[in-house]
Amino acid sequence: MPLDQWLHAATDHPLARYSQYVNPQFAKVLRTIGFDIAFTRANGAYLYDARGNQYLDCLAGYGVFNMGRNHPRIKAALQRALELDLPNMLQMHAPPLAGLLAERLLARVALPALDTVFFTNSGTEAVEAAIKFAKCATGRGEILCTEHAFHGLTNGSLSCNGNAEFRDGFEPLLPGRRVPFGDLDALRTALASRTIAAFIVEPIQGKGVYTAPTTYFNEAIHLCRQHGTLVIADEVQTGLGRTGRWFACQAWQEPPDLLCVAKALSGGYVPVGALCYSRTIYDRVYSSMDRCVVHSNTFGRNTLAMVAGLAALEVTQDDGLVENAVHRGRAILDGLRTLATEFEMIKEVRGEGCMIGIEFGEPQSLRLRTGWKLIHTLNANLFGQLIVVPLFTKHRILTQVAGHNAIVKLLPPLTLGDADVEHLLTALRAVIAEAHRFPGGVWDVGMDLAKRALRAS
Ligand SMILES: Cc1ncc(COP(=O)(O)O)c(C=O)c1O
Repeated sequence: MPLDQWLHAATDHPLARYSQYVNPQFAKVLRTIGFDIAFTRANGAYLYDARGNQYLDCLAGYGVFNMGRNHPRIKAALQRALELDLPNMLQMHAPPLAGLLAERLLARVALPALDTVFFTNSGTEAVEAAIKFAKCATGRGEILCTEHAFHGLTNGSLSCNGNAEFRDGFEPLLPGRRVPFGDLDALRTALASRTIAAFIVEPIQGKGVYTAPTTYFNEAIHLCRQHGTLVIADEVQTGLGRTGRWFACQAWQEPPDLLCVAKALSGGYVPVGALCYSRTIYDRVYSSMDRCVVHSNTFGRNTLAMVAGLAALEVTQDDGLVENAVHRGRAILDGLRTLATEFEMIKEVRGEGCMIGIEFGEPQSLRLRTGWKLIHTLNANLFGQLIVVPLFTKHRILTQVAGHNAIVKLLPPLTLGDADVEHLLTALRAVIAEAHRFPGGVWDVGMDLAKRALRAS
């Protein structure tokens, strides 16, 4: 079987080849933080290395694997689709599975104002569609976004990015402005120009796991409607159960005008994204038969993507993943809040469902402050790695640093069980306790990382 040969060939010096032909800088980072492990198998919430060691995946492919990895029902649906040799991408054709997935997705969105779907191949492409549709529907050119926002990295989505480090080197981008997340006065002032086509916002910001109260979103929508600005809810990461609802915006009093979905809709197998929007907007964009493909793509609506999407929706429902996100998320947050009362460097624990951030802050005690200052002098963004690296290397738990300011993010599959939550909290306690002992322990890891990063650069 050629695949076995390819796998065999690929495992011979995988990082060296990746470094040579794909992304040498990323390979250096992986080597520096000790994440250069060759995983050979994945199942549910777990990854396995060549020796059979099990790792708990609390990163879930940046939120793709809500249903865990290699879910048997999604795999079976895709295998069956391949066996049937179905016709695919005829293009001058209305794929029946696309109609079915659109119907079922809208039923889960359950916001009657959103009654039309445009399928994409990724999250950023759903955002690009939302930006174009908002411009076309309003006749305005600017997009308003929030500080710290992340909506993808193609040109339009990057224009709405609230993190300078992503934009640097790529400006000028599309016209637009940024306001602080949660700040209604700033929003009101920006909207007053009446030049803004859409306000794009994540219900919980992925970079930093920043949250805002529901009242903020309710008032923001109200203000946007008053000023003729459309609202784009970017639920690429928060959607499909992640925050303990099918969609986080279901908690808002009024629906958004456009809703971006992707990541977990793929079932973890085939990229698929979707923009859910209103027929009023559709009618402005696709305003005549001549314009019936005025915004379109080649691979959107492809058979395997539609099958993966249909299977992902069924699994999310039948496996009770939305409820499990509430249940396990609450257990993790409760556990972390207890830790926050014991460990002074935990500044805040926040999130909803299974989207959780732990923010660390400068300690009061003199000895720890010395360590904190030293690490920050060496590298302003290193502290989060002092938690993430030992969680991975000592406890075999995969997490990530979320943006800056020493924030560690937990984004596990929604399939977690009691034992996983216990394992995660026990490991976090051990690593955070170690971080509260200076010198030694994780601080040495930090110094070592800083030195290795210097050598590698
Ligand atoms: C909120 C949000 N929007 C958009 C995107 C971009 O999605 P993709 O990476 O599929 O283009 C992401 C990716 O992390 C995201 O978190």
